[in-house]
Amino acid sequence: MATAGKVIKCKAAVAWEPNKPLVIEEIEVAPPEANEVRMKIVATAVCHSDLYHLFESMFKGGFPTVLGHEAAGIVESVGPGVTEFQPGDKVIPVFISQCKECRFCKSPKTNQCEKAWARVRPKFMAPEESRLTCKGKKLLQFAGTSTFSEYTVVHESAVAKIDPAAPLDKVCLIGCGICTGYGAAVNTAKVEPGSTCAVFGLGAVGLAAVMGCHVAGAKRIIAVDINPEKFEKAKVFGATEFVNPKDHTKPINEVISEMTNGGVDFSLECVGNVGVMRSALESCVMGWGVSVIVGWTELHEVSAPPLQMIFGRTWKGSVFGGFKGKYGIPSMVKAYMDKKVKLDEFITHNLSFDQINEAVEMMKHGKCIRTVLAVSTE
Ligand code: APR
Ligand code: ZN
Ligand code: ZN
Repeated sequence: MATAGKVIKCKAAVAWEPNKPLVIEEIEVAPPEANEVRMKIVATAVCHSDLYHLFESMFKGGFPTVLGHEAAGIVESVGPGVTEFQPGDKVIPVFISQCKECRFCKSPKTNQCEKAWARVRPKFMAPEESRLTCKGKKLLQFAGTSTFSEYTVVHESAVAKIDPAAPLDKVCLIGCGICTGYGAAVNTAKVEPGSTCAVFGLGAVGLAAVMGCHVAGAKRIIAVDINPEKFEKAKVFGATEFVNPKDHTKPINEVISEMTNGGVDFSLECVGNVGVMRSALESCVMGWGVSVIVGWTELHEVSAPPLQMIFGRTWKGSVFGGFKGKYGIPSMVKAYMDKKVKLDEFITHNLSFDQINEAVEMMKHGKCIRTVLAVSTE
């Protein structure tokens, strides 16, 4: 490509400081260094974790940055030592790297990786290493990806190659929310056929968890959200019942326990609220109930009476649904192409890249499930 080896000037949405709108700026994207991949971002979605960093995090050291971690694009050029990718490959960047060499990557038990940004600088969600600059200032690389940009540079261990026939404006969702929720049900909870499940929080992550429970063969899927507008959508993904905690004076775990003769087999917390995490645990049946923490927060600690666990409940968590990126992402793209999982139904809005702040506001106020931004043409 004509741009290989050169600095690319392009548009990006820069987050200069917390709690402020993103600013579309011209930035410089340096060529990829050893073992790095420079890619053109074709489509990116806005996820709650982008908002978390912008509005909710108490750690303010992660600015200026380019947010965004749920995207799909095309390899523009590769740095020295990269053999897995070539210019023109369709790819999805992944915020949990898979170096294939560390002891976690070598174990089938986990998708953690020693090289992942989440181990390097978790509080700020932004590794300092970045190829992006704006007005002479280095921009931090959010989640190791920074996809709110026409071009970005990602370590080769944090890129997954996908089917060239895949529509990038749809499969971009596989880069975070869909795998996170779906995998939490299928890989982490290991939902069983005929079981009863409860999913707390019906954003894209929770809806994907509902879909995972459904695909795994759950008989009852109780969808829980304080926004009743979310239930219609949850039905599309397989929810069988809806509970709004605001409609009840009793604690929600008691309501669910009564509905299910003592509690559900599996529950998934997809909000990021420690109170809801405890409710989800306590909604599980004793003896074998499994509760999975999916929602992200660093602000508070979780607690529950030890007897909950002593009496046979299991409390687990997962990130990116337990999927190892380089294997899980192509398999989820295939599942979508084979019509085994839904993606289109998560997309409530399609906007231009310049409208990114509208997408952020809609997500902040619960007005969308996923907004996909058209960043570049293929
Ligand atoms: N009980 C039930 N549902 C709640 C509650 C509550 N107390 N508080 C909020 N919710 C619902 C909201 O109404 C919303 O429908 O949780 C949902 C959260 O959805 P989104 O904001 O769209 O977030 P999403 O992108 O799905 O991510 C959810 O998973 O990966 C993490 O960082 C992510 O913590 C976030 C969570
Ligand atoms: Zn690794
Ligand atoms: Zn995300």
